[in-house]
Amino acid sequence: MENKIVNWYPGHMVKTKREIGELLKIIDVVIEIVDARIPISSHNKDIEEFTKDKKNIIVFNKYDLCDKNKTLEFIKYYEGLGYNVVTCDSKNSDSHKNVLKVINNLMMKTNAKRKEKGLLEKRVKVLIVGVPNVGKSTLINKLAGRKIAAVENKPGITKNIATIKIGDKIDLLDTPGILWPKITTEEVAFNLGSMSIIKEDILPIDKVALHILRKLDKNYKDILSKEVGVKEYNEDEIDEVYSVISRYKGIKIIDGEPDYNRVSEMILNLIKSEKIKGITFDELK
Ligand code: G4P
Repeated sequence: MENKIVNWYPGHMVKTKREIGELLKIIDVVIEIVDARIPISSHNKDIEEFTKDKKNIIVFNKYDLCDKNKTLEFIKYYEGLGYNVVTCDSKNSDSHKNVLKVINNLMMKTNAKRKEKGLLEKRVKVLIVGVPNVGKSTLINKLAGRKIAAVENKPGITKNIATIKIGDKIDLLDTPGILWPKITTEEVAFNLGSMSIIKEDILPIDKVALHILRKLDKNYKDILSKEVGVKEYNEDEIDEVYSVISRYKGIKIIDGEPDYNRVSEMILNLIKSEKIKGITFDELK
């Protein structure tokens, strides 16, 4: 299975990489959005070769849904790599303003240097990139103050480079660069599946559900007990676990057999519908 996942999107990847490489030549600041619940798995390392000379911001979006204690470790990790890190809940709060603050700070430094050289202040060109479903459109719309971006989640980048003026110093590209998930291991694949970044046609839903149960059992036993009624998780007796969950959630058991598909879907939906919050699935080694 791993090969199938690792080779996902091979055709698009080369083309998208080339297009993003071209576009980045005119960009000053690259904002990569990751899902704060999986800030490593939803990061795409492939574009680092194009962004190493840029000002790089990494936005931990969906901060409202993550395990905030763990986030601190990941912030330190990315700062250690030279990123400017911002946490954001672009759907429900004004935290996008923190992104603007960081861009302005970065530009202050650049403009001070330009002034020393007798150059005029620079308007800064900003591009937002990220894998599907991390909140790129939501953040662009918040930054623009109106509804602009609705993107089809296929890797690629727009040919029309239209910009939105934000204040008198920032030009934000109005469509994001959609990166392909960088799937290096099964763990990464299932983390991406858990957060609906890669879909059921790529990953079997029952395996994604098992991954979620395993993660909850390891780090969030209280959530496992409260949301699905499992107090003792034993993967060797997964039939029993599924029966317990079925009874707890009122999902019909037919002839003594739980409906594995319905239970798996329900588990995924607990995350999709944001019923389960306060979780981070990535771990720093
Ligand atoms: P994309 O462009 O990167 O593909 O992502 P998009 O903005 O479309 O956001 C994907 C989903 O994530 C949307 O939910 C959006 O509302 C939600 N979202 C974005 N940012 C945040 C955040 O900071 N916190 C939370 N909790 N959710 C966020 P949806 O269910 O697909 O659509 P809808 O809720 O907008 O109807």
